[in-house]
Amino acid sequence: MRDCRRRRVTILRVLVTGGAGFIGANFVHWTLRHRPGVSVVVLDALTYAGNRASLASVETGIEFVHGDITDTVLLDRLVGSCDLVVHFAAESHNDNSLHDPSPFVTTNVLGTFAILEAVRRHGVRLHHISTDEVYGDLELDDPERFRESTPYNPSSPYSATKASSDLLVRAWVRSFGVTATISNCSNNYGPYQHVEKFIPRQITNLIDGIRPKLYGKGENVRDWIHVDDHNSAVWAIVDGGRPGETYMIGADGEQDNKGVVELLLELAGQPRDAYDHVSDRPGHDMRYAIDASKLRSELDWAPTYTTFRDGLAATLAWYRDNEAWWRPQKDLTERKYAELGR
Ligand code: NAD
Ligand code: DAU
Repeated sequence: MRDCRRRRVTILRVLVTGGAGFIGANFVHWTLRHRPGVSVVVLDALTYAGNRASLASVETGIEFVHGDITDTVLLDRLVGSCDLVVHFAAESHNDNSLHDPSPFVTTNVLGTFAILEAVRRHGVRLHHISTDEVYGDLELDDPERFRESTPYNPSSPYSATKASSDLLVRAWVRSFGVTATISNCSNNYGPYQHVEKFIPRQITNLIDGIRPKLYGKGENVRDWIHVDDHNSAVWAIVDGGRPGETYMIGADGEQDNKGVVELLLELAGQPRDAYDHVSDRPGHDMRYAIDASKLRSELDWAPTYTTFRDGLAATLAWYRDNEAWWRPQKDLTERKYAELGR
């Protein structure tokens, strides 16, 4: 094992793409809490998924730029003023990608291409945020978990565009000597997640007196990690990760969807079977599972949220306390799901 733990690159100014989205906004909060010496620039197009309110409490401590990652002139100016880019910006929802893949190709593929060209021009370090979905899915009884060496086998338009972006990053590292790292993380939960996603959708349904909705039989398994643990891992990779390397991020949090809904119902004080089954997602990946031993052993990283029940209870409380944040998105989101019969 190479000892990279002592190396810590000095980062003075970081460009966070997609910093008004779920994980990006939490990354900004985490950075301001734990890295007071780092100045933060957010670049975000404020699509339906971006929400300036997620940054309201830190607005005066950051520079916010409303713009698109495919805008090469803007990127050139911003990247040239920073010494690190952490690239979260993406179209991120599988169901949307099945309805209209076009923005996924534009943002996830062409947007990442634009970022790569900008960091290449300016010799700036890049950390590319990706997903475990690039590896496809596993059977429920498969003893294997995804590792850095697992072959790519994406299923949905979303995961295919994320896989494409990863491959571009790898090619720019090898062909042009760009200094980049990649992380492939499992399903995140926590504050500021859009109500279209599974956990916030069910929490806000429960608050609204609507029964939670499980796709198909609810047997599909996701490997849940709290968003703060994802972001502490990203900083561990920025600090000590080897350029050109990929790191899996996960916290051993496998749960089937039915179990998650039952736990939420219990936490909300309702009968554990008070949910409905709805039509399944086409091509629905069965199971994701992460082997994060490279991250843990090389970079000494460990998650802080080790009990899913506690993390979920805290997330439920956050949505109860922050209705003004999610309420404006709820009706439109449910109307979209109603059109899909889900
Ligand atoms: P999100 O949809 O909540 O946020 C995406 C953000 O990107 C939004 O603020 C949006 O306005 C912005 N954006 C979209 N297109 C843009 C463009 N062309 N230019 C500038 N900004 C643009 O997504 P998220 O869940 O926070 O995911 C962030 C990243 O993490 C994505 O790359 C995603 O693939 C990856 N990821 C997500 C998860 C998860 O569980 N949510 C897990 C692993 C990896
Ligand atoms: O694995 C990482 C990925 O996790 C990220 O790359 C994606 O950006 C992120 O959206 C997430 O993808 P999923 O498709 O796994 O997440 P989603 O929240 O859409 O769904 C989680 C599971 O819950 C999935 O099996 C589908 C199911 N589901 C979802 C919704 C919205 C339901 O059963 N009911 C629902 O209402």
